[in-house]
This record gives sequence, structure tokens and C-alpha cells, in this order.
Amino acid sequence: MEVLVDILVWVHIVAFVAGGSNPVVMPIMGSRMAAATPETRSTLMAIADRLSSVGKFAMATLLVTGPLLLWLEYGWEVPNVWFWVKMALIVVMLVSISLTEINGKRARQGDMEAGRRAAQFGRVTAVAFLGVLLSAVLAF
Ligand code: HEM
Repeated sequence: MEVLVDILVWVHIVAFVAGGSNPVVMPIMGSRMAAATPETRSTLMAIADRLSSVGKFAMATLLVTGPLLLWLEYGWEVPNVWFWVKMALIVVMLVSISLTEINGKRARQGDMEAGRRAAQFGRVTAVAFLGVLLSAVLAF
């Protein structure tokens, strides 16, 4: 059982490292998007799409390994209030990621305002993600 818990912690860490690349790399690419040539822009969009898929897969992995750890390592016992702070911020991330998806579809259809909003949603997700990391460290 201990080995399984260790593997789950490892997968949990790998997932938040992989997903955590999004808030670092996306703004860098986004800042180059407006001035890029059409060819470069389509390359940047392809990279952004791939990163976004990695992020969603990482989030799904966290949402599976997290509860498994809480069950197998802590017997569903919530350690302290920081755990609930972490859960609340995860909900903020999920809402923000969903809104980013909807907004992204509009931006692709040529909605310029949606293109500008993308960076704001990205910032909300990034700040919530940093809060999740901090509350996770304080919780466990
Ligand atoms: C965005 C999603 C998530 C992120 C970024 C995240 C991040 C983290 C981090 C940084 C740690 C290490 C804390 C430490 O050992 O000091 C951790 C541990 C943990 N997380 Fe998450 N987590 C996420 C989702 C979840 C969910 C949904 C649950 C449960 C419902 C959960 C349950 C746990 C548990 C039980 C541990 C302790 C593992 C151990 O004892 O080493 N996590 N998480």
C-alpha cells in the first residue's frame, strides 16, 4: 500500500508540474501572437492547443489521484482548513478553465474582444493555481 501511495504522490506531482507549464508558457506565447506573421501565428496556435490538452489531462489526473490519496493515505480525514481552501481554489480553476474554453472558441471565430479576454482568464487560472499550491503545502 505504501508503494502505491508513493506512486500516486509522484503522479500527483508530475501532473501539477506538467499542468503548471501552462501559466508560464501561455502568456509568453500570447504576447508574441499579435505581432506574429500568419504562419508563425498558426504555429503558436498549434503549440498552445497542445499545451492546453496537456493542461486538461494534468487536471483530470490531479482530480483522480488527489481523492485517491485522501482515501488511501488519510482515510478521508481532512487535515485542516487549508484543505478546503485548496478545494475552493480548484473550483475557481475549473470554472476559469471552462470559461477559457468557451472564450477560445469565440476568439477562433474572429471575436477580437474574446482574444483580449483570453489573457485575463489565463491570469485568474494562474493566480488560483499558485493559491492551490500554497494551500496544498499548508494543508499537508
Ligand atoms: C489543481 C489540482 C491540484 C493541485 C495543483 C494539487 C497540488 C498538490 C501539492 C503541491 C501537493 C503537495 C503538498 C505537500 O506535500 O506539501 C499535494 C498533495 C496532496 N493533494 Fe493535491 N493538488 C490538486 C488536487 C487535489 C485534489 C482534488 C485532492 C483531493 C480531493 C488532492 C489531495 C491531495 C492530498 C491528499 C495530498 C497529500 C499527499 C501527501 O501526503 O504527500 N489534491 N497536492
